Amino acid sequence: MLLLNKFPAWLSAFALLLLTQEPVSTSEVTACGVAVDPPANIEITDPGFLGYLSIHWTLPTSLQNLTGCTVRYQLRYYDTYEERWRSVRTVKLTYAAQFDPEKPIKVRILTVLKCACTNGTEVQGEEKEWVYTPEPTGVAESRIRDFHCVYYGKEYMECTWESGPGQPPDSQHYLYYWHREMDETKECPEYIIFSEGRRGCRFPRESLLEFSKFNLCVNGSSPAGSLKMAYFSIEVQNYVKPTVVSSVHVSEIDGELKLDWSPPSGQVPEHCLEYEVESSTTMENGKQKQENMVLQNLEDTSYSVPREVESQKTCFRIRSKVNMYCADGGFWSDWSQTKCTENMETQCIPKLTYLGLVGLVVIGIAGVIILCLSLWILKKISIKKINKKDALYTLYKEKVNETMPTILSPIFK
Ligand SMILES: *[C@@H]1O[C@H](CO)[C@@H](O)[C@H](O)[C@H]1NC(C)=O
Ligand SMILES: *[C@@H]1O[C@H](CO)[C@@H](O)[C@H](O)[C@H]1NC(C)=O
Ligand SMILES: *[C@@H]1O[C@H](CO)[C@@H](O)[C@H](O)[C@H]1NC(C)=O
Repeated sequence: MLLLNKFPAWLSAFALLLLTQEPVSTSEVTACGVAVDPPANIEITDPGFLGYLSIHWTLPTSLQNLTGCTVRYQLRYYDTYEERWRSVRTVKLTYAAQFDPEKPIKVRILTVLKCACTNGTEVQGEEKEWVYTPEPTGVAESRIRDFHCVYYGKEYMECTWESGPGQPPDSQHYLYYWHREMDETKECPEYIIFSEGRRGCRFPRESLLEFSKFNLCVNGSSPAGSLKMAYFSIEVQNYVKPTVVSSVHVSEIDGELKLDWSPPSGQVPEHCLEYEVESSTTMENGKQKQENMVLQNLEDTSYSVPREVESQKTCFRIRSKVNMYCADGGFWSDWSQTKCTENMETQCIPKLTYLGLVGLVVIGIAGVIILCLSLWILKKISIKKINKKDALYTLYKEKVNETMPTILSPIFK
């Protein structure tokens, strides 16, 4: 009872409620002359781990003096997250299980007896069921919505949410979390804050624990009262989103298109990744062909495909996800950059020839025009020069005729 002081008020009431519901009627089932009653003093307590509750019970009084028997208990409880009954058998007087504190908690328990006097066959007592429906508290419609978590490259996790439709103004949100290696819940290490207020939490890798329940709770306060609590329980390894695949390289060897890439950076082990390759091929007739291929070959970061005869150009992009050998779920990474084959020979040569031909013709015509023009200009210049020379000569002759004997004159003709 001392512990109860630590628990939230509703759960203290809950534990007491279960105690008062203790069955008083004895079981119809008997073995070796005693009634096989259900366990006694059933109590469900909340150590404050956001839905990870402890169930305790004691041996029924009718079986206290029985010798030569083994007593076991069969406990069934409704897993509100998975929406199915789970069953365990134990010789212990306690069991801890994960519940969604927002939903009714249902527990069924019975005693299983195996004695020498029953020739070693098992006798099951009557099953008793307890159901607890939590009282709704908090401002109506104030529960947060669209809560989801993404564990980026196994380096850090972000959980984000939207505010409830009925959230009063000036509300403040709080996130608390717990996993089994923590002694108590802790508040979010780093809130993601938008102009509207806290809308997410960022967890560094060190604060997370894989392959174990990771419990979260988002509650809040406002001038109009506290907000409705929202509880979540996840296993973080199922929420991994790998980083983008980088260094994608395409090559063509002997009619084969080969794609190579490097595994995404981050903490996801290489053998835990699968890849999806998307190829889009442009055919000679201009049509597009798209194909997607999921590759589960462990640790293989290359992919080959024969080049289609009528293809002009093929473009690839690639993304990755944690495979089924390492987790039950996960998110696809963003697509890598698109990488295409170089233009194929079959198409680029005719294109070049055609372009070349047009070019040559243009250059040829231009050449001819320029040649004609230059010839014409040259001719013009030389004619002018001759004219000039002639004038000079006449002038000179006149002078010579005046001063020189006529015998020398033939030289200047
Ligand atoms: C068990 O034995 C004790 C003492 O030996 C006795 O007081 C008690 O009544 C017995 N209980 C039952 C259920 O027979
Ligand atoms: C146990 O076995 C014996 C013989 O093997 C038999 O006589 C007896 O009826 C059996 N008892 C029960 C409860 O099955
Ligand atoms: C929110 O929940 C945590 C953990 O249960 C609790 O310690 C805290 O007081 C709650 N805050 C509000 C405002 O309800």
